Amino acid sequence: MSASERIRAVVGYQTYAEITALTRLLEGSRVEIVEAAQTAQKLFNACAPEGAGGQDPDIALINPAMEGYSHALISDLLLRPEAPVVVIGYVAVEDVQSLAPGMLDAGAKYFFSIAKPPAATELTTRIERAIAAVQKDYEEGRLRPKAQPVMARAGAVHQQVITAWVPKGGGSTRTTICVNLAAALAATGNPVVLVDFDQPKGDAHLMLGFTPDGDLPVTRGMILVERGLYDLMVNVRARWGNDGKRAVTAHLLNNYLVRWEAGRKHGVGDNLRLLPGLTAAHQAGTDAFADADMVHEAGLAIIDELKSMYTFVIVDIGQDYNMPLHAAALQTATEVLVPIPPTNTAVVDVARGLAALRQYFGSLEKFRWLPTAWREGVESPSLRKVTDTVKLPRLDVVIPHDVAVADAAVNSGVPFSLFDGGPLGEAIRDLARNYDASVPRIQGAKKGLLQSLFGFLVREA
Ligand SMILES: Nc1ncnc2c1ncn2[C@@H]1O[C@H](COP(=O)(O)OP(=O)(O)O)[C@@H](O)[C@H]1O
Ligand SMILES: [Mg+2]
Repeated sequence: MSASERIRAVVGYQTYAEITALTRLLEGSRVEIVEAAQTAQKLFNACAPEGAGGQDPDIALINPAMEGYSHALISDLLLRPEAPVVVIGYVAVEDVQSLAPGMLDAGAKYFFSIAKPPAATELTTRIERAIAAVQKDYEEGRLRPKAQPVMARAGAVHQQVITAWVPKGGGSTRTTICVNLAAALAATGNPVVLVDFDQPKGDAHLMLGFTPDGDLPVTRGMILVERGLYDLMVNVRARWGNDGKRAVTAHLLNNYLVRWEAGRKHGVGDNLRLLPGLTAAHQAGTDAFADADMVHEAGLAIIDELKSMYTFVIVDIGQDYNMPLHAAALQTATEVLVPIPPTNTAVVDVARGLAALRQYFGSLEKFRWLPTAWREGVESPSLRKVTDTVKLPRLDVVIPHDVAVADAAVNSGVPFSLFDGGPLGEAIRDLARNYDASVPRIQGAKKGLLQSLFGFLVREA
């Protein structure tokens, strides 16, 4: 950017008086306010090129008191797929001390008060320097999100990569467990990414109310998922020849991660991101997945990069541990959950499957089994007997069989761990408490829309 070019600014404000004050402050400088927004979402949209009159803005001036603001907005703007938007914080009050450190720590480049403003020249110089610094970081590939600090809670929260595996096809509750665990941990305030690495075909997105096809009568009103793992792998493959695993950057991943907007309504705020999986089975057979070694390496690199961005990386996979993305998840996981339903066939399948895995991985020390879709009265094997058969430690959680709640959650696109106060929701939150002891209990269940929907389904049944 040359010294005479305009600097295009978008403003995220709380009250309109701030715009007037900022305009006055920037009068005669190179900085031009091209767009102003009163909510974080509108601000983010305004930063899309079409939003800001067809041209990328250079900076965002943000009052953290604006509606919907969270520190994540700063890295979202810095890591925008198109180009970084530099964030400068401001407040309307004189006190900068209470809000500046948090914003600066989250990646804002400068912070000031319009009640006690810096000299106009000082402000412009700061803005110019900030843009130059970010531009340099961007060009040299050094721009990456700061790992968000995890709040100190009762019981330490450790970074985890969690996956669920059983050597059996559909209906093994792997995806259900991953999605619900991700939602429960995100609702507790942890930055979480749910990665759909099911290589034959993904469906985690459906459980969050996304659809690849909005034209069907049953999918009308659902959110369209326009890109995900498939497009990511196409892109990675195109760059692999030159860059190898360095092709996988936070920037690139951000193009394909989807925020779960509906999460705001369900207490998850902005904490949950999804990498949607393959939306059609034929995608796994395309060129993008032809080179198994490359796909495996890329899978490892993707998880590795996501670890620098999120406290919890939860990877949903399919049954076959030999498939490159499944293998990558099993290798990088800090914990592998093995959900086993109460049937002898399942127990035997797992025991035999684990024997092969033991050969493949050497040790299974990060594997734990847990009873899932469990019910008494079906002559279920005892927990003890299952433990002895599969020779894995058991996690002290029993996920009960509850088709009604499981189906209601799938059909509403909201994980039951967020609304079910019954045994199923409680069990998943128990599971989540293994990773973050502060996951709350839902006492007496929130009576929201979903509860009434659930009631309706039960009455209909
Ligand atoms: N605890 C449970 N009780 C009863 N049904 C369940 C339970 N958990 C999941 N289900 C249902 O089982 C089906 C398959 O679950 P899913 O998680 O997709 O399995 P997988 O990922 O192993 O193929 C879904 O219809 C889901 O709603
Ligand atoms: Mg699945």
